[in-house]
Amino acid sequence: MSSHLVKVATLSDFAQTGCFTAQANGHTLALYKYGENIFAVDNRCPHMGFPLNKGTVRDGILTCYWHYARFDLATGGTFDQFADDVPAFPVVVRGEEVWVDLTPKADRAAYYRQRLTDGLERDIPLVIAKAVINLLEPRPERQDLASRREGTAPVEPFKLGLEYGTRYRNQGWGQGLTILTCMMNLLPHLHAEDRARALYHGLSAVTRETTGNAPRFVVSPLPGTSADLVTLKRWFRQFIEVRDEEGAERCVVSALRAGATPVQMADMLFAAATDHRYIQIGHPLDFTNKAFEALDWAGWEFAEPVLTTLVRGYAFADRMEESNAWRHPLDLVEILGAAFERLPNILEKRETTGETTLREAGKSGLVEVLLGDDPQATVNGLLTALEQGTHPVALAQTVAYAAALRIARFHTANEFGDWDTALHTFTFANAVHQGLRRIYGMSTHARAAVDDQGFGGSYTELIRGIFDAAMSIYLDRFLNIPPARLPTPSTEPRKGGPMDNAVEPRAVLETLSGLLNQQQQVNSAGRAVADYLFAGGEAAEVLATLGGLLLREDRDFHTIQTVEGAFRQYQLLGDQPEAVYVLVAAARYLAAHAPTMRAQGQTFGIAVRLARGENLFEE
Ligand code: FES
Repeated sequence: MSSHLVKVATLSDFAQTGCFTAQANGHTLALYKYGENIFAVDNRCPHMGFPLNKGTVRDGILTCYWHYARFDLATGGTFDQFADDVPAFPVVVRGEEVWVDLTPKADRAAYYRQRLTDGLERDIPLVIAKAVINLLEPRPERQDLASRREGTAPVEPFKLGLEYGTRYRNQGWGQGLTILTCMMNLLPHLHAEDRARALYHGLSAVTRETTGNAPRFVVSPLPGTSADLVTLKRWFRQFIEVRDEEGAERCVVSALRAGATPVQMADMLFAAATDHRYIQIGHPLDFTNKAFEALDWAGWEFAEPVLTTLVRGYAFADRMEESNAWRHPLDLVEILGAAFERLPNILEKRETTGETTLREAGKSGLVEVLLGDDPQATVNGLLTALEQGTHPVALAQTVAYAAALRIARFHTANEFGDWDTALHTFTFANAVHQGLRRIYGMSTHARAAVDDQGFGGSYTELIRGIFDAAMSIYLDRFLNIPPARLPTPSTEPRKGGPMDNAVEPRAVLETLSGLLNQQQQVNSAGRAVADYLFAGGEAAEVLATLGGLLLREDRDFHTIQTVEGAFRQYQLLGDQPEAVYVLVAAARYLAAHAPTMRAQGQTFGIAVRLARGENLFEE
C-alpha cells in the first residue's frame, strides 16, 4: 500500500452537491463525485489559484468558475494552454471511506521544461513565469522529503530560450535574444529572489519577438573542406559588402564546420561588422558581442544556429557613409579612412604594454579630448595612444568610459528621445571593448588564446570600432551642452537631497527605490548611487539593487542594455574611481525611464504567489 494513501472523506460527504473539499498532507483537494466514481484534484486552479470546488463538471470536464479553464477531471490535464495541468490524485473507495493517493509527481522538472516550451510557443508570459519559478526553485514546503529536489540551473532555461529564439525568427538575432543574454549576464549580480524574474523577462522578450515570424533554416556548409579560413573570411566580407546574405551565411557555416575557433569566428564577424562605419547605429556589432556572450553561457555547440543569425544584420544594415551627419559639415568617414590607412603600420611598430588601465590610457587627457568638439583631435589622440603602446583593449575601455560619461552628464533639458542617442553610442563602445577582450584572449570566458593561424594572426579589424565609437561620441556632444553636473563626494551637509551628511549606505539604496517610483528623478538617482559608493557602500549591493529596480519595470530594451553594459564596465574598472560614474549613468538612464506600468511584474507576482501557495483572492 502506498505510504501516501490518506483517508479524506466518506461517501456521505458527496450526498448534497457531489463536491467536497478536504485538507490532507498540506494539500487542499477538490473531490468530485461524477457518475459512479470519485475524482480528486488540487483545489487551486493552476491558472491563477482560484478554488476549483466552485467549478462545474459536465461530460467529465471540470470548468473553472473564474476564467473558464477546462480540465479532464480524471487526469487533471487542461484543454486551455493558458492554464497548467491541475495535479490529479488516484482515489480508492473502501466501503464508505474515500482515500486519496498523494504520491508526488515523478518528474516535475520535465513537466515545467515542457511548459516553458509551451509558453514560448504560444507567447503566454504567465506560463513562462510559472515554469521558470518552478524550475529554479525547489518547493519543499509543499511536499514531503521524497519530493525535494534541487532547482534547475538557470542556464538550462536560458539554453531553451536561445535555441527557440534562434530557430523561430527568420530575421535572425534581434532585441529578444539580446535581452535574454543581458538578463543571463545580470543574473550573478542579482539577489537570489530576482533571478527567476530576470529569466522570465528574457524569455518573454524572446517569445514576443518570435511570435508570428517564420522559422529560420540554416544553410548547409560548402561540400568538402577545400576553402581555408583566410579565404572564407575574405569571401564572407565580400558577400556582406554586396549584401548577399546567403553567400555570407554559407561562409560562416563552412568556417564553423572546418573547425574555426571562437576567436577566429569573433575576428571574422567583427571584421564584417566594422567594414563600414557604425552600421545600423551600432546594433549589429552589439548583437555580435551578445551572441558570443550567449555562447559563453550555452556552449560552443550552439555556435552554428547562433552565429548564423547575425548575418542578415550585417548584410542589410544602414552604413554611416550614407549618413549626412557623418559626411557634413565635416567628413568623418574621410578622417577615419585616413586613420585606418595608418593603423597597420602603427600596430606593427607599437610597443605593447599589456592591458593598461583606464587611468594609464587616459592620463594624457584623452577622455577630455573624446568629449570635445574636434574629431580630428580625437582621431589623432587615439592613434597617438596606440603608437605609445596603449593596448587596444585599454583604449576601447577608455572610449566606452567616455561614452558612459555622455549619459552621466546628459542634461534633462534635452529631448527625451536623445537618451537613446547616448545609449546607442555607449552600447556600441561597450561591445567593441568586449569584442576586443575576446579577440585578445582577455575575456573571462574566451576559451582560446590568440594564435597565429587562421586569419593570418592579425585580428586587427575590430580596432576600427574604437574609432567609430569615438566619432559617435563626438556627434553626441550636443547632449552635454550644458552638461549635467557629475556628483562629487559630499563634504558639507546637504539637507533635502537624497541623503544628508550622515551617510548610511543602506538607507541610500532604499531612497533610490523610492525615487524610481516617481517620474524623472534623474539627477537624484545618480546622486544617490554616487553617495552610496562614495560612502563606502558595498558594490555588490548597489548592483543587486539597481538590477532589482530594472526588473521591477516593464521591459525596455535600451534601459536593459544600458544597465547591463554599465555593470560590465563597472566590473572591469575595478576600484578605479571613475567606476562610480558608470553606475551613475546607469541609474540616471533607469530613472529617466521609470516608473512604467509594471504590468509584466504583476504577471510575475501572480506566478510567485501561486508557487508559494498564497491566496490570490479574497472572497
Ligand atoms: S481559469 Fe481558474 S483561475 Fe483562471
